[in-house]
Amino acid sequence: MEATAAELPESAPKAATALAPAFATVEEAVEVLRRGGLAGFPTETVYGLGADARNPEAMARLYKVKGRPAKHPVIVHIGAAAQIDQWAREIPDYARKLAKAFWPGPLTLVLKRAEGVSDAVTGGQDTVGLRVPSHPIAKELLHAFGGGIAAPSANRFGRVSPTCAEHVHADLGADVDAILDGGPCDVGIESTIVDCSGEQPAILRPGRITAAQLESAAEVVLAAPGEDAPRVPGALHRHYSPRAKVRLLKRTGMIEALTTHKGKRIAALAMEVAVPRLPQALLIVEPAVAAEYSRTLYANLRTLDAAGADVILVEMPPETPAWAGVLDRLRRAVSE
Ligand code: TXA
Ligand code: MG
Repeated sequence: MEATAAELPESAPKAATALAPAFATVEEAVEVLRRGGLAGFPTETVYGLGADARNPEAMARLYKVKGRPAKHPVIVHIGAAAQIDQWAREIPDYARKLAKAFWPGPLTLVLKRAEGVSDAVTGGQDTVGLRVPSHPIAKELLHAFGGGIAAPSANRFGRVSPTCAEHVHADLGADVDAILDGGPCDVGIESTIVDCSGEQPAILRPGRITAAQLESAAEVVLAAPGEDAPRVPGALHRHYSPRAKVRLLKRTGMIEALTTHKGKRIAALAMEVAVPRLPQALLIVEPAVAAEYSRTLYANLRTLDAAGADVILVEMPPETPAWAGVLDRLRRAVSE
């Protein structure tokens, strides 16, 4: 049986509580961080769940709330590239060039850690992930706080990253001490991560910044990530997943799946408007430009999840370099 709009649940926010969330000011968030608390904050990529990177108790709480294994490193956000040497050592020239070209922005550099950077941040590895975000509120927070803010995406482990303050509230609720509202994120998928601990840079996680842009700024060619590349738990199965089963299909496969999944509530994330037999509330048409598609991807997956979809059919976007980040996240969202 096919779902009709009339059967859909009310479109209230998913983990809605009776009270609308009260969002914090930057001063309040700084206070929270100084006390060893957790503060959700916007970046241009996705919202982060921040903790004082130099406070072991705050880091322990961060991992607990996030439900994240202790061996998974987190990114340290800093206010300016000038702070890089407080966190990293033996920084290659190409890494400085990347920082100069893309910071502040959606790029994380994995570098050999400086002395005193704790295992709580690096997951016990000899490297540290660093990023200077460009979102004005993230910048304001980092400047007011002064130190490094360790922040994974502000979702529970294994789920879709939040791209607006309401998502953070819905995912983490009372487990987060303050949430800064900076509106919807511009990039919408997590930063490009580049391993800069070897001779050549290597992409560990694709994002908005493409391989070609990196090579041109670094003035060296990228290496293929090797066996001994630092671990990225994003590489784990089913990392960026909504609750619904996700299938990534070419257009013809999508149309076919629509007729074969009878009895399931099917939703679709399509590139074109004409998807037969789908009620409007279960069809979202994404823009055909990668940078716009990524901006709304996670929010759209959440919306379809909240609409009660059992299966989300995602129409395969073009397999070109500009789409690498989006394709990576879609492939991870796919159920086995
Ligand atoms: O856009 C982003 O990167 C967002 C915002 C909040 O900055 N953050 C984010 O954090 O996506 P998270 O923790 O969800 O993913 C960070 C990834 C993880 O896969 C982690 O393993 C990797 O970065 N990472 C961090 N430090 C690393 C290190 N030293 N070596 C290898 N990978 C590292
Ligand atoms: Mg994450």
